[in-house]
Amino acid sequence: MRTTIRLVAGSLSLGVVLVAGVAAAGPLDGPGAAKALACSACHGPGGQSPSNTMPIIAGIAPWYFKKAIEDYAGGRRPSPEMEPYAKYVIQAGVDDLAAYFTGQARQPTAMRPDAAAIERGRAASKQCAICHGESGRGDAAKGSPDLRGQPPGYLRHQMLLFKADRRNPADETLKALKALMKTVPDDQIGDLAAYYSSLR
Ligand code: HEC
Ligand code: HEC
Repeated sequence: MRTTIRLVAGSLSLGVVLVAGVAAAGPLDGPGAAKALACSACHGPGGQSPSNTMPIIAGIAPWYFKKAIEDYAGGRRPSPEMEPYAKYVIQAGVDDLAAYFTGQARQPTAMRPDAAAIERGRAASKQCAICHGESGRGDAAKGSPDLRGQPPGYLRHQMLLFKADRRNPADETLKALKALMKTVPDDQIGDLAAYYSSLR
């Protein structure tokens, strides 16, 4: 019994040390580091999502981070998971959190889509380059985000949401993107997701 209590007490203090270690990280980490702990359950440590469905937010452009947060918090980009966290970000300081995630070097997804799908996606990607660039890195002037290295499952899901007008419905600025998505067959959407996730 005593051993159990000591073990529990031991692991508790280890937990406290670990959390304190992250929260009080080096002088290069701004105030966003501690606030970002709330995000790691879904987006992974430092925003490096290991899953196929959760977006990587490490290395995200600050302007795109802010737009996404404002859209979730305002209900324009409907997401029951993100809406409460977006409201938290606005309360905690969107600039601090943007600075923290922008400062993390993006590690591309570990997911490895089928090589044939990547090649089919490459051929279909010409129609996307006008806004996302030849390299897929996005363009701040057009409001288009960097797609490179995102998990394929996440990219595919977002394209299907655009196609069904369920992401930012009624947003006039995204009309051209949605009109284009409606012309892309669902299997080609999977190929495009495979291609962009494979870019580095
Ligand atoms: C409960 C899980 C969960 C937590 C915790 C969470 N998120 Fe998210 N996040 C998601 C999901 C799911 C999406 C994709 C939603 C969609 O379909 O648009 C997302 C999307 C995002 C995006 C948009 C990425 C893109 O490429 O468009 C940003 C930015 C983001 N989250 C930031 C945060 C931040 C900052 C925190 C911490 C304050 C956080 N999230 C906490 C689940 C979560
Ligand atoms: C007319 C310009 C335009 C074209 C063409 C376009 N996009 Fe986009 N795309 C955007 C913009 C702008 C956004 C950001 C929307 C927002 O602010 O929520 C976006 C967002 C996305 C996202 C969501 C990324 C994320 O992190 O959530 C994916 C995936 C995507 N585009 C894929 C594509 C693919 C694949 C094509 C080609 C079939 C394409 N887009 C063509 C402008 C465009």
